[in-house]
Amino acid sequence: MKFKLLVVDDEKNIREGLAAALEMDGYEVVCAADGDEGWNRFGKGDIDLVITDLRMPGISGEELMRRIGAGTPGIPVIILTGHGTVENAVAAMRDGAWDFLTKPVNLDRLSLLVKRALANREMVLQHRRMEEELERHKQFESIIGRSPAMRKVFDTMSRVAPARASILITGESGVGKELVADAIHELSPRKGKPLIKVHCAALSAGLLESELFGHEKGAFTGAVSRRRGRFELANEGTLFLDEIGEIDQNLQIKLLRVLQEREFERVGGEETIETDVRIVAATNKDLKSEIEKGDFREDLYFRLNVVNIHVPPLRERKDDIPLLAASFLHEFAAENGKTIEGIHEKARSRLYAYDWPGNIRELRNCLESAVVMCRGAIITEDDLPPALRNTGDEGWIRIPPGTNLEESEKIIIRGTLSFYKGNKSKAADALGIGRKTLQRKLGEESE
Ligand SMILES: Nc1ncnc2c1ncn2[C@@H]1O[C@H](COP(=O)(O)OP(=O)(O)OP(=O)(O)O)[C@@H](O)[C@H]1O
Ligand SMILES: [Mg+2]
Repeated sequence: MKFKLLVVDDEKNIREGLAAALEMDGYEVVCAADGDEGWNRFGKGDIDLVITDLRMPGISGEELMRRIGAGTPGIPVIILTGHGTVENAVAAMRDGAWDFLTKPVNLDRLSLLVKRALANREMVLQHRRMEEELERHKQFESIIGRSPAMRKVFDTMSRVAPARASILITGESGVGKELVADAIHELSPRKGKPLIKVHCAALSAGLLESELFGHEKGAFTGAVSRRRGRFELANEGTLFLDEIGEIDQNLQIKLLRVLQEREFERVGGEETIETDVRIVAATNKDLKSEIEKGDFREDLYFRLNVVNIHVPPLRERKDDIPLLAASFLHEFAAENGKTIEGIHEKARSRLYAYDWPGNIRELRNCLESAVVMCRGAIITEDDLPPALRNTGDEGWIRIPPGTNLEESEKIIIRGTLSFYKGNKSKAADALGIGRKTLQRKLGEESE
């Protein structure tokens, strides 16, 4: 899309000169001969940036700027000023002008100013679009995602939430498994009844058993009174068993029985207790290989995994990064009492280039520290943690200025080859040339 700029100056030579220079830079330019005409033209609503003289017949440059700012915040206004009005120009900057230029206008400087102002505007707009999109994303509780992979997760969630079937949520650490469990409960008819969570890896086998099933007074040393377990507390609600891959064989058998028969006894008790709970379990282990090793019962696996929801790692759904980033920025800016208007292009590309082994938890922590580090209103590369800044130039091909075309071509070919791990057919395909041509261009003998 071409940016459209409005140049307002009562001197015909100046506005035409500026227009010509800016058109050379690839912008579309419209001109106005005074403030009133400028304001009317601006009213059409398609202008991205305004360059205006200060003193003109009719409404002044300051007034024009004020009106623009009040109606459409975020449109950069660059002020042109003669010698006599520099002070007014400085005052205009305090009132929100992007910058000013003294006449006669240095065209290189103008070109740079316009470029920066538009880049900044794009950044701010992009951030706003993200915030608006966030507003529309409230349907799955606090789970953010618009990638096809997450849409699939949402789709499965809404289809299975109403049922009683057990659900096994799989995925790497930090992908949001617990959030999915929360949302399933909220979307189910059990909403309003308890959602009880048990972290299976946090307790020893014995403690976990009495935690789940409860115990009778005197069942073991320290059992001074009868205690109801999580299965009882979760009655009519949902029981979330986190890190299910960690439970031992003995408990696996007991769990299997509750899942099959919907009844159990407290530790040390005789009474059989019936229970109506929906089980949602989560693991970051590959349970199939645990089964092969003999560490996890296959029959229990089938009972738990009636429905599987796999939450993909962040590196497989990088489309979600901008929206997630906007949401975390919003959260931490508020928490730290800061105003953050956007993420600089370079910082943004760092977020994309990184592989996020710690998934969304890591992204969240990264943006929290970026907000804390950030000095201005824009998150820059320097605000990001070192791990992200050191991704180097992987995935990029660098060509130093001054390299001739022939050599540049070789660098591109070698870079593409190394990206495809030396696979010449793939590299040739990606470059749109034949394999033989690729070899010839590299000065190799064809095989
Ligand atoms: N789609 C998402 N939208 C917003 N926040 C998310 C999303 N996914 C994860 N988070 C946030 O990331 C953090 C980690 O999520 P969560 O605890 O659900 O991950 P997990 O898969 O259970 O990880 P672990 O296996 O380590 O327990 C939480 O702070 C959570 O709020
Ligand atoms: Mg978890």
